[in-house]
Amino acid sequence: MLKRLKKKKKSKLLAITLTSSLLLSGLTFDIASAQSQDPSTVQQKQTSIVQTTAPYLTDAASIDSVIQAMTLDEKAKFVVGVGMPGFTRGPFEVTGAVGGTYGIPRLGIPELRFADGPAGLRIRPTRPGQTQTYYATAFPIASALASTWDPATAEAVGKAQGNEVKEYGVDLLLAPALNIHRNPLNGRNFEYYSEDPLISGKIAAAMVNGVQSNGVGATIKHFVANNQETNRNSIDTVVSERALREIYLKGFEIAVKESHPWSVMSSYNKLNGTYTSQNADLLTTVLRKDWGYTGFVMTDWFGGDNPVEQMKAGNDMIMPGASYQSDIIKAAVEGGNLDEKVLDRNIKNILQIVIQTPEFKKYQNSDKPDLAAHAQTARKAAAEGMVLLKNDNMPLPISKDQKVTLFGNTQIETVKGGTGSGDVNAAYTTSIADGLKSAGYELNQSEFQEYKTYIDTLRSQEQYKIKPSPWGEDFGKSIPAIPEKPLADNEIAAASKESDIGVIVIGRNSGEGADRQVVKGDYLLSDAEQDMISKVSAEYHNQGKKVAVILNIGGPIDVSSWRDKVDSILLAWQPGQEAGYAVADVISGKVNPSGKLPTTFPVKYSDVASADSFPGTPAENPTQVIYNEDIYVGYRYNTTFNVKPAYEFGYGLSYTSFNFSHVNISEGKKFKDKLKVSAMVENTGKLSGREVVQVYVSAPDGKLEKPAVELKAFGKTKELRPHQRELLQFDLNAKDLASFDEEENAWILEKGTYTVKVGASSEDIKGTATFTVDHDMVVEKVNEALTPIVDFEPLTK
Ligand code: BGC
Repeated sequence: MLKRLKKKKKSKLLAITLTSSLLLSGLTFDIASAQSQDPSTVQQKQTSIVQTTAPYLTDAASIDSVIQAMTLDEKAKFVVGVGMPGFTRGPFEVTGAVGGTYGIPRLGIPELRFADGPAGLRIRPTRPGQTQTYYATAFPIASALASTWDPATAEAVGKAQGNEVKEYGVDLLLAPALNIHRNPLNGRNFEYYSEDPLISGKIAAAMVNGVQSNGVGATIKHFVANNQETNRNSIDTVVSERALREIYLKGFEIAVKESHPWSVMSSYNKLNGTYTSQNADLLTTVLRKDWGYTGFVMTDWFGGDNPVEQMKAGNDMIMPGASYQSDIIKAAVEGGNLDEKVLDRNIKNILQIVIQTPEFKKYQNSDKPDLAAHAQTARKAAAEGMVLLKNDNMPLPISKDQKVTLFGNTQIETVKGGTGSGDVNAAYTTSIADGLKSAGYELNQSEFQEYKTYIDTLRSQEQYKIKPSPWGEDFGKSIPAIPEKPLADNEIAAASKESDIGVIVIGRNSGEGADRQVVKGDYLLSDAEQDMISKVSAEYHNQGKKVAVILNIGGPIDVSSWRDKVDSILLAWQPGQEAGYAVADVISGKVNPSGKLPTTFPVKYSDVASADSFPGTPAENPTQVIYNEDIYVGYRYNTTFNVKPAYEFGYGLSYTSFNFSHVNISEGKKFKDKLKVSAMVENTGKLSGREVVQVYVSAPDGKLEKPAVELKAFGKTKELRPHQRELLQFDLNAKDLASFDEEENAWILEKGTYTVKVGASSEDIKGTATFTVDHDMVVEKVNEALTPIVDFEPLTK
């Protein structure tokens, strides 16, 4: 009690000190009310005005005294965001920034700005009364970036994104997002990297390092097990501790340890019964105690339902924030339901980041990032992430003297990225048709004109008009899907005679707020699309000519019903604003495709391990989703249970060929605490290109059963000329090889024979080597956390 009284007294003294300085600077302040709180001490305080300096946030050393000087009211306001000032408060310096923090000028605490998102900075491109524009670069979607299997590319993209964040006056980017592709129907998979936690973690870490190299922050999200949009704000996600540690948490663990993101965003869902933002096991035990995280945690926008529980759990800041939440927090401290020390702890976590921000450092942003340079970075990354799925007899690359007919609406209405907060307000998107034209291809003009007229006509009709998003202009545009243009038989026949190759573009979009569905026009091709593929292929093949398909999509669609009809398939993903140029780079062979699938393309949707449990029960309005496929997500399921995919994890062709040799383990046959795997790659084809080397491990079953293979390391060669070779080396330690034992709360390495499988995909293994572990090892003990409260049968072999 005495302690608390002392503290109170001190803050009043500070208030008086401040009052005088505010008055001096011409601002008004109600000195009478400040004094009226304790008139008996006025004399004493006035004497101390001269002696006391107000604590002021200057550096890490000043943080504790600044917190001590904060009133309870200020504390309760500081841990709650100020709403969405970039949307609602005008004039506001960064229009379209989705979050802001509460500033306390008297203590030197500035207001910060937060803005989305994964494919680039999302702010509003125009401001009332200004001619200057604020466009940001739309980079390829996360899944495309992961398909590069190249952290250096991700880091370059992050660096460019972070520069736009800084130059447009934002402090923290609300990205990258790295939830696992548990099921291909998640509407937000495009914002996420992979079904594999190693790829997710490594690419996310590279992104964070790139963003933060600018002196602005990155936010890894959505922590954790936010793998669907259906009822995302209420769904209870039931997951075993092992699947959490090995699959869903693992990518976050890698990103936290390898890139120290300034912020972590908790997710919307509940995890094993508790909202993630109210889950102390997750936010304090795992994140801080097990992993040593030192940044701050924010909620997702309007996530969770109890501000006091959020504070206690270690969710330092509530976003976007509303004053009632501050009131609840303040009342809880006053009523003894929340220890003020908890608030102080959370505030300290935030202030430690505040002092690193451009706003705190009074950085004068230019509002003029180098958009031209960033467009080149986006184009390069987009091409690097494209995956060649099929190329029978090499119809691709297409030489410039071949005349091309493009089919499909998406040649014109090319999709740069998904919708919702993962969208970017870019100045333009280069369509695939325009990209090919500008690369010098002669396109079948009459067919192009048919498409142009069809699309223009439909778009002028009310139902297909492009409008601002229902969430407001800041969320981009709402583009109603128009039906695929029907093709007349004589139209196709004429085109097949007039051009040397037919290129069909299939497009899809999805986004925040809804999952995709296994229906025609979504996961399945529409009848018109099937017709287009069948008829175009038949006619071109009659003429002895080839047909290629370009997939401009954000996640897997059905391929098995039509892929045998065409000669080539290029998965271009949603490549960002430079879409058309990047597609042309790959189609022309300027860039030899080297992307590999970070996610499995199943033969049929029912082959997905989570097909039966997604998106939860009861089916009409799910409240709970049980991850009973457990650790068998994606290729871990396919390889263990012999379910053949259409295109497997890690798959991707090239215009050249590679030979793998010299697969070796350097430390000999017995594992001590680390080993080095090496493999030689030689370009055995006729064109320069890059190859991804994938290191899988098959671990022996013991106390724990193991998936058939698990990716443990990967690397990409430099651009190899024909006959050129490169030796790649990979370090693996015991933690990399370990599995999670729920009984022991530990990562363990079990004795037995391990096989290292070096390959060009999860199924295309080029060389193996074995080593043995002599005795069981406890590699790392962790705290017990996140135990499911619901009984379920996890899938076993
Ligand atoms: C999304 C977050 C995003 C936030 C702010 C939420 O709806 O889930 O990813 O950062 O909005 O736009």
